[in-house]
Formats: sequence, structure tokens, C-alpha cells
Amino acid sequence: MALKKLKEWKALEDHHQKMKNINLRELFSENKARVVDFSIDACGIYFDYSKHLVTQETFNHLISLAKARHLPEEINKMFRGERINNTENRSVLHIALRNRSNTKIVLDGKNIMDDVNRVLEQMVQFASDVREGRLVGYTGKKLKNIVNIGIGGSDLGPLMVAEALKFYGKSDIENYFISNIDGTHIAETLKKINPEETLFIIASKTFTTEETMTNATTARKWLLNTLRDEKAISKHFVALSTNQTKVEEFGIDPRNMFEFWDWVGGRYSVTSAIGLSVMIKIGSQNFIELLEGFHEMDNHFKNVALEKNIPVIMGLLGIWYNNFYQCETQAILPYDQYLHRFPAYFQQGDMESNGKSVTRDGSVVDYQTGPIIWGEPGTNGQHAFYQLIHQGTKLIPCDFIGFFKPLNNVGDHHSKLMANLIAQSEALAFGKNQEELQQERVAPELIPFKTFSGNRPSSTIMADQLSPRNLGKLIAMYEHKIFVQGIIWDINSFDQWGVELGKVLAKKVLEELKNKEQTRLQHDSSTNQLIEKFRHYNHA
Ligand code: F6P
Repeated sequence: MALKKLKEWKALEDHHQKMKNINLRELFSENKARVVDFSIDACGIYFDYSKHLVTQETFNHLISLAKARHLPEEINKMFRGERINNTENRSVLHIALRNRSNTKIVLDGKNIMDDVNRVLEQMVQFASDVREGRLVGYTGKKLKNIVNIGIGGSDLGPLMVAEALKFYGKSDIENYFISNIDGTHIAETLKKINPEETLFIIASKTFTTEETMTNATTARKWLLNTLRDEKAISKHFVALSTNQTKVEEFGIDPRNMFEFWDWVGGRYSVTSAIGLSVMIKIGSQNFIELLEGFHEMDNHFKNVALEKNIPVIMGLLGIWYNNFYQCETQAILPYDQYLHRFPAYFQQGDMESNGKSVTRDGSVVDYQTGPIIWGEPGTNGQHAFYQLIHQGTKLIPCDFIGFFKPLNNVGDHHSKLMANLIAQSEALAFGKNQEELQQERVAPELIPFKTFSGNRPSSTIMADQLSPRNLGKLIAMYEHKIFVQGIIWDINSFDQWGVELGKVLAKKVLEELKNKEQTRLQHDSSTNQLIEKFRHYNHA
């Protein structure tokens, strides 16, 4: 049934009317144990969602909605390998990549864990050979620059994780990531490295992505410019892909290819071979720990009742704000410098998954779907955009992410960092009212400016320390939150047709930019003019 026709949806609409005047100060003073009722401590993650504009009744309605959308059954379908990516007729089995219990997952009569374990073993062997210097470059030098060339899911995941787990990395190995087709990205990276000591990892699920293929071709030329022997390619290039034919066409020996499969979505691929650059940096033990963390959260998501299930609660809170409070965005605010790419990673994860406006059967939705995801690490964000979150006209639900113990114990930095995280959620929730300002003897004319309305919702997500295992849990938690919302909205979270049109048009425009003959352009006047101006500067 259409979402808005469900009685559970209507009940939420009615409930929202009653909740309009709800006040977090009152909710906390009425229920002294509110944090006990609205927090979950599970698999090493402490999830406090008490500072949200919700009551137990709100959750009863949200859980009823999830049940009406058959969420438990849908979760099982994903874990069983049903072809839930209906527009591409594919299973969605990133959970198999980190299925550390190694239980059978059968797809088309085959236990896919055999393939998963085989490639993982191949990665472990290769990573340790590079780390220990058993695999060296063409001139016998150690490979210490690991350059991942990829884009989207083939870049953002390994980049985010490599940054997040840098602390655990081998100091004589440096990760580089080239993604943008802007020649500046590759030019500036190549300036820093010596080809004899460089391993290029060409990461592309399809091995057809224009940005990646262009960068890979440039890297190849650059390498051959110095090493001057085609045989050097096999010592300096490996591929991560599902497409062996294209890998061979590019000139990479299939023995240097690390396979993955069409049931791994690009933005869910960081635990596949796409993680190779990370494994080389942090070592296979740490990489396996990361997988263990993912698996722990996968099990939590699959097995724990909806009411106590962290990704489910996160997903439902998002529905509450997105669809009833009409919030357009969700901020992800990690209070850990190592997680500085975490919000950007989930910008793709969430927005490419749930930025859809038709349901799984192709009907146009009449409700809002995926939120705009954004964020920066604390405390930098506080001195940039928090003003708007505290006193602006927009309601922006925030996720604060932090760790009780620091990795770098520098003076009292960590206490100060955590004090800021905790204080921000308190300030957002409770604000500061007129009476308080008067008591503080604030000049009356400044009271309107110094008033904080409060009632601004946030979750606080904490773990003991930033470890590979805890990072795995955090990533899986957000992945599954995205899944939950896709099910409620009845959209396919696993295709991405929306990126196609731009790609197709860029091909046509490229021909026209390169074409020195002044053929008649047949676009709109704006597009024609832009092309003509480019030609003027480049072919004059
Ligand atoms: O942006 C579209 C997209 O297909 C993403 O989903 C994907 O992560 C990215 O391009 C890169 O694709 P590939 O790994 O095939 O090069």
C-alpha cells in the first residue's frame, strides 16, 4: 500500500500535531530516567537518542510503521541474497564480505563465501608481500607509495578508512588517492612520488568509469616515461574490479586483479577488494578487525528486536524529522580528526542510495525521501556553521560521534574535545531562555540575540576508542540506517540511475569542446555559449 495511505502513517501525522509544542526541558524534567529509556548500549556502541523530539508514543508509532513496511522480513531478504536491487536484478550482499562467522550464503546454487574467502586470502598475501618488501618494483625498490585511482565508492571508502585508521598504519607506507578527472589531482600527486617506489591500484567496479580510466592511462604513461619498459606495468599496476575483460584490455595481467562481484554496490564496497590500499597500510590483522566490527553490527541489525536496534532507531528518527518536521538535512559531526572524511563518505552512501523519487514499482513518491547529508569534524564546525544550527530558522538533526579515550594523548586536548561534544548537544537541546539571561544580568536589548530556543535534536554516538573494530561497527550502522529508510520509503537504495544523464551529456559536450570546426551547436543558448567560450580560449 502507498506509504501515506497506511494507517500507521496517518497515526504519525496525528501524533506530530500533538508533538508540535513538545519541549525537551519538560520531557527531561518529567522523566528523570529519560536517558535510560532512550539510549542503547550494544556491541560496544553507546547510542544516546534522548535529546530527540520524541516520546515513547512516537516510538510506538514509528515501530508500527516499520512493521507495516515488513522491515524484519526485508532485512532477511537482504541477508538471504534475494535480488532486492530490482532495477539491476542484483542481490545486495555486502554483508557477505564481512561474514566472519563464515556461514553459508548461497547465490545461484553457489556458496559465495568461497569466493569471498579466496579473494580475502589473495589480498592478505599481496598486502603482506608489499609490506614486507617481498614484492618490489621493476628496479627492485620497495613499493612505499600506494596510489589508489578510483572515484565514488572506489575512492571515498578506502580514503575515509585510510584516514580514519592512519594511527594503525605502517609509517614507511604512504597512501595516496587520485579521483578527480581534473588533471591537477594527478599532477600534484605525481610530483610527490618516485615511480620506482609506486604501486598503482586501479579501483573500478566497472572498469569503464571515465575519470578512473583517464587517470589510470595518465599514470601508466608517467610510469613508462621513467621505466621505459612495458614489463614494468605488471610490477606497478594492479586492478580491483568485477570486469576482467576490461582489466585485460587496459593491459593489466588478470593475475594482478582482485575480483569482486556485481552483488557489491560501489558505495558498499570498502570491505571488498576495494579495501586493498587500506590493508597494505594497516596490515591484514587490522583489516580483519575492521571486518569483525562490521560483522558485529550486521548481526546486531539482523538479530536484535526493532525497539533496541541501533540502525533501526536511527533510520526511524530520520523518517520522523524528514517526513513530519520536513527537515531537509542531517548533519554528521565526528569529534575525531581521524574521521574527517566520514561525513563525505556517507554523503555518497546516503545520497546516492536514497536520493530517489520513485518507488520500487516506478510510481512517483508523494513524500520526501533521502536527506542531504553534510558535516565536518568538531570542533572546527563549531567555528563555522554551528551558529545556524543553534539559532537559525532551520531544524537540523545532528549526529555527534566521539570516543571516550583518545589515540593521541596530548595534554588535556581530549577532555576539551569531549567537553565540546557534550556541551553542544546540551546547548542544542536546552538552549537558554529569557529568564536565564535576565538572571545573568544580560542587557535587555541583547536578550533577543542571546536567546537560544533549544529543542534542537541530536544523537550522541560513542565508543571507547577509534579502533578498526569500532570503525567497522560505525560504518555498518550507517549503512543499515540507510537500508531502513529505503524500506520505509519503498525505494531501491541500491541503484544510481541519477548519475547517468550527466555522464552521457558530458560525452557529447566533450566532442564539441574538442571539435575545432565551428559546427552548429544545438543545445540551449546557455550551453551553446559556454561551449563557444571554451573554444575561444582553447582554440584561438
Ligand atoms: O557515481 C556513480 C558510480 O557508479 C558510483 O556508484 C560508483 O561508486 C562510482 O560511480 C565509481 O564506479 P566504478 O567503481 O565502476 O568506477
